[in-house]
Amino acid sequence: MNRERTARLGLAGVTPWGRRASEYRAFFDLPEDPGPGRILDCGAGPSSYTAEMTGAGVRVTALDPLYRLPVPAMQRLLADAQHKIGPALTAERHRFVWDFYGDIHRLLTARREAAERFFADYSAGRAGGRYVCGELPRLPLATSSFDLALCSHLLFLYSRELDLEFHLHALSELARVAAEVRVFPMISLDGTPSPHVEACRRFLERRGARVTIEPVPFEFQRGANHLLRIR
Ligand SMILES: C[S@@+](CC[C@H](N)C(=O)[O-])C[C@H]1O[C@@H](n2cnc3c(N)ncnc32)[C@H](O)[C@@H]1O
Repeated sequence: MNRERTARLGLAGVTPWGRRASEYRAFFDLPEDPGPGRILDCGAGPSSYTAEMTGAGVRVTALDPLYRLPVPAMQRLLADAQHKIGPALTAERHRFVWDFYGDIHRLLTARREAAERFFADYSAGRAGGRYVCGELPRLPLATSSFDLALCSHLLFLYSRELDLEFHLHALSELARVAAEVRVFPMISLDGTPSPHVEACRRFLERRGARVTIEPVPFEFQRGANHLLRIR
């Protein structure tokens, strides 16, 4: 595994694009109230899932290498991403299913709202320990400290940038810290199925995990409507 490449990816190669709790519920087929268990959002970036769920009394911890940056630097990265992604999405709009978002304007508004909610919660949440700076494949977290780990738009999506060995270590690490792991989507950025899925599945099953691929009520990238679940 190329650690230098992974670190670079954390701050530059992966778009710091944050989604809202309603989107996470659809990606991961989660109920409105996931109950009293502890949830880890790994690779959370500027998603508002932690902020929104904390407001609803759910125990969520967000982890991301982005959190090593001061807030103004994170805000600059996000503003740059928004400037680039609007035109890119417009040019590639045919590659996506628009049922959930409606149109590009509403999608960008959702992203801005997520980021605003994230930044409103971040300083107090960082002090309170619910935003943790860290990165796969080694997490600064105790074994079995979560009931559920979510990984949205990182593993499998960046299959070109993150090789199979990285995925094997990262999924094993998530399974070390949480009783259950859900990863979405299972499609690479170019819209093709991730080449790492089957090898990851076999590897985890050999280690005693139960691995399932399940449909979810969400599709934006065409064909990206399944999650990987590890128990
Ligand atoms: C495309 S964003 C997705 C953010 C959020 N999960 C969502 O779906 O809205 C991917 C995130 O993964 C983070 N990331 C990159 N490399 C990582 C690593 N090795 N471990 C954990 N997170 C990483 C990035 O900093 C970025 O915030």
